[in-house]
Amino acid sequence: MVRVITGKAAELTRQCGRELAVAAVSARDRNKDRGIDFGNANWFDDPVEMAKSADIDVFVELIGGDEGAAHACVKAALEAGRHVVTANKALLAKHGVSLAEIAEKKGVLLNYEAAVAGGIPVIKTMREAMAGNSVTRVFGILNGTCNYILTRMEAEGLSFDACLEDAQRLGYAEADPTFDIEGHDTAHKLSILTSLAFGTKIAADDIYMEGISNISQADIRAAGELGYRIKLLGVAQKTESGIEQRVHPTMVPTASVIAQVHGVTNAVAIETDILGELLLSGPGAGGNATASAVVGDIADIAKSRPGFQHGPVFGRPARELRPYKKARMRSHEGGYFIRLTVHDRVGVFAAVAKRMADNEISLESIVQHAAGQEADAQKTVILVTHETTEAAVRKAVEGITKDGHLTDKPQVIRIERAG
Ligand SMILES: NC(=O)c1ccc[n+]([C@@H]2O[C@H](COP(=O)([O-])OP(=O)(O)OC[C@H]3O[C@@H](n4cnc5c(N)ncnc54)[C@H](OP(=O)(O)O)[C@@H]3O)[C@@H](O)[C@H]2O)c1
Repeated sequence: MVRVITGKAAELTRQCGRELAVAAVSARDRNKDRGIDFGNANWFDDPVEMAKSADIDVFVELIGGDEGAAHACVKAALEAGRHVVTANKALLAKHGVSLAEIAEKKGVLLNYEAAVAGGIPVIKTMREAMAGNSVTRVFGILNGTCNYILTRMEAEGLSFDACLEDAQRLGYAEADPTFDIEGHDTAHKLSILTSLAFGTKIAADDIYMEGISNISQADIRAAGELGYRIKLLGVAQKTESGIEQRVHPTMVPTASVIAQVHGVTNAVAIETDILGELLLSGPGAGGNATASAVVGDIADIAKSRPGFQHGPVFGRPARELRPYKKARMRSHEGGYFIRLTVHDRVGVFAAVAKRMADNEISLESIVQHAAGQEADAQKTVILVTHETTEAAVRKAVEGITKDGHLTDKPQVIRIERAG
């Protein structure tokens, strides 16, 4: 960010109509070599003191974490009437609404483009470019680590573990990858998009979450044969019973635009009554993507003028954000992919089909893969359902499990409609 502000100083001055300069800096370790010249910027050991300093107009928080220094200094900056730019999705997922209330009371901006999908200008698009549109669904590939792993698993036939190891070696995954691969990172970002999409209070703890660690080559291959690709999606959708927020491995049609988003790239699809489906894709993380979003946020503040009424942080005044009404996952409606490993015995296929029929699940396809010759041979049964409910699928799979035909854990992957 500092490199962009100093390296593009002349261009930024032309665009903003005023000069941008780094006035102050804080970090844990003052002596660390960051390879950056901070010029005449004042050093602060305490970021909260810096946040309150009268010498700054905009406070940029790039610390991370939902509590501690990040929360303390963002709150202090807003209360002191400073504009804030943050890349911190965890902070916004937990305290976004209360921070927005302070910003709006103080008449300052809280910008957070880098917090969701890195360099993709999705916050700006949803906050500013979609007036009058009613969003019906927003979904996306919001975690580059997961998309990188799934892309390599499909392209090279590698195991999940091998791809994760490579992601760690290349710096795409943390030493402890849980936060990314189990869907928490996607959930934080999704909770912010949900608020913007539906005008509701952020409800990050209400998100149904499944990660990608149990996706196997068998799933990837079966998906390909059926015309699907597996992606970890975050989906927020308005339904009759409330708002669904879910993060899980998802089958999307191979021909859909979102299925073409590979590697560490992110994408967000926004579906509205007026616009139809809009898809934005681009770099979701890394220094340049984050710097681009952060500098864009700072420039927007620089372009605004004193006395100008700033738009609300989450698209509607924070006090008017509605309570979030959660739709139960059991009432989710959609197609399902079910992969069963069963004993190769007479009657198993019929028993599986009966459990489906008993739960009123109509099948688009049912395929069984060749059995071995041994006495205890197994076979794979792959079912694709027409639209049904999560409750029906769970009941059918529970029934099949009770019948004692399975030799391995059943795999269930939801299918998402995508253009
Ligand atoms: N990395 C990305 O690609 C990316 C993309 C989008 C959003 N983000 C978000 O950006 C934020 C930072 O992520 P990062 O990957 O850049 O983390 P990072 O490399 O760990 O950097 C954190 C920075 O905060 C400083 N810091 C930590 N605790 C502090 C404290 N108590 N007081 C003052 N400074 C403190 C650190 O100082 P020292 O250098 O002295 O340790 C370091 O400069 C997170 O919210 C993350 O979600 C990151």
